[in-house]
Amino acid sequence: MKSKDWLNRQKRDFYVKKAKKHGYLSRAAYKLIEIDNKFNILKKSQKLFEFGAAPGGWTQVALEVNPKLQITAIDLLELKINHPQINFYKEDFLKFNYDKMQKNFDLVLSDIAPNTTGHQSTDHLRLSSMLLDIIELIDQLIIKGGILVLKIWKGSEEKEILNILKIKFDEVSYFKPDSSRKDSVEIFIIAKNFKL
Ligand SMILES: C[S@@+](CC[C@H](N)C(=O)[O-])C[C@H]1O[C@@H](n2cnc3c(N)ncnc32)[C@H](O)[C@@H]1O
Repeated sequence: MKSKDWLNRQKRDFYVKKAKKHGYLSRAAYKLIEIDNKFNILKKSQKLFEFGAAPGGWTQVALEVNPKLQITAIDLLELKINHPQINFYKEDFLKFNYDKMQKNFDLVLSDIAPNTTGHQSTDHLRLSSMLLDIIELIDQLIIKGGILVLKIWKGSEEKEILNILKIKFDEVSYFKPDSSRKDSVEIFIIAKNFKL
C-alpha cells in the first residue's frame, strides 16, 4: 500500500472510530460539523429539508447543534433515528410530491449520492444530474435568504451547477472538510442568501 493510501485509510478509520464512540450514525456527521463551524448555518435556521439523510448522521448533528430545528428528511433507505421534530419520508426524492410541502425552509442540505459504479466520470454525471433536479426543486421549498448545502463530486458538470447557483444565491462558496478524504473528488458547496 502506498503511504498516501495508508494515510487516507488511517484518517477514514479515525473518523469511523470517532463517530462510533460519539454515537453518530455516520462518519459523514463530521463533515457537517466542520461545515457548520465554518459557515454557521444550523443555529440560525428553523426549518431544515434534507435530501439523502440516511442513516442520519447529519440529522443527528443538526439537532444536536440546534435542538429547536424542525426537520423534513427524505431517503430511499430508512433513517435510523426517531425524533418528534423529524418528519421522515422513505421515498425517491424524484417521485416525492413536493406540492404538499410549504415553501418555508430556511435551510436545505443534500448529502445525496447515487450508488457508485467506480467509473469516476459516470458517477460524477449521475450525481450531477440529481443535483440539477434538487436545484430546480428548491424553488418550491426554500425561502428568500435561505441557505443550500450540496455535496458534489468534482468534474465536467461542476461549472454548470456553480453557475446556476450563482444566479439563485448571493454568495456561493466551496468547502473541503478535513474529515473528507483528500483523494476523493467530493467537495461541498455552501450557497447563501437565496434570491427567489
Ligand atoms: C452519503 S449518504 C447520506 C449520509 C447522511 N448524510 C448521514 O450523515 O447519515 C447518501 C444517501 O443518499 C440516498 N439516496 C440516493 N439516491 C436517492 C434518491 N433517489 N432519493 C432519495 N435518497 C437517495 C442514499 O440512500 C444514501 O442514504
